[in-house]
Amino acid sequence: MKIILNRKDVCEGDLILVNAAHACRGRGAAMLAPLKGEDDMLLQRRAGNFLSQLMEAVEGEQDITVVSAWRSQKEQQLLWEESLKEHGAAFTEQYVALPGHSEHQTGLAIDLGRKEDPINLIRPDFPYEGRCQQLREHAPEYGFIERYPAGKEAVTGIAHEPWHFRYVGVPHAGLMQEKGLTLEEYTDWIKQFAHGKNPYEIHQKHQSIQISYLPAEQVDQREITVDAPYSVSGNNVDGFVITQWKRTETDAG
Ligand code: DAL
Ligand code: ZN
Repeated sequence: MKIILNRKDVCEGDLILVNAAHACRGRGAAMLAPLKGEDDMLLQRRAGNFLSQLMEAVEGEQDITVVSAWRSQKEQQLLWEESLKEHGAAFTEQYVALPGHSEHQTGLAIDLGRKEDPINLIRPDFPYEGRCQQLREHAPEYGFIERYPAGKEAVTGIAHEPWHFRYVGVPHAGLMQEKGLTLEEYTDWIKQFAHGKNPYEIHQKHQSIQISYLPAEQVDQREITVDAPYSVSGNNVDGFVITQWKRTETDAG
């Protein structure tokens, strides 16, 4: 099938990179929906559905709660200002994204915390053991990554945050985990797999998944041919990531 890509949509999709260098500027907030069982928490609908499935899979509701989901610009600004007042600049720069540059503003990020009283709202407890760890281990199967791992502070610009998860979708979350790449690194890594030339291939039992990159400069109302099912996401920097699922021959009959 043929689809049309628009250069301006580079800031839309599950793989958008939002950090100090790249502001949140997409229309994700138009796709927000309340989380199951947490009506006051909003996430983009698909991300929210996968989060519910992940929580169910690990029976997370007993021990885990959603501490923060989508935030408006105003809420991020308030959080930033309150943190500055309470904890100072060094802490705030490490743990709170600049207003306009928070993944929480995309509706694709979530802070999870172990249920306890009180819960630390900026740095909730989400240990590497028990049910929290179980959820962390299964997260990539549902399209979520731990976004700010230890040892990658210089890459992400944010301190180690065991509680902050980002929806990037399948198979990207699994690939990032397998290769030990942050979203910053994955965004760069994927560029070697030119669309229409040398896609990255994941071979599974009955299908192969192809991932490729198309620079935004080559896209302006450009028509491309894809196999369905497919997904397209801008990277919020300079191009698009195209993912296609293809049935393999052995499965054709
Ligand atoms: N705590 C993360 C970095 C945020 O404020 O978006
Ligand atoms: Zn967070």
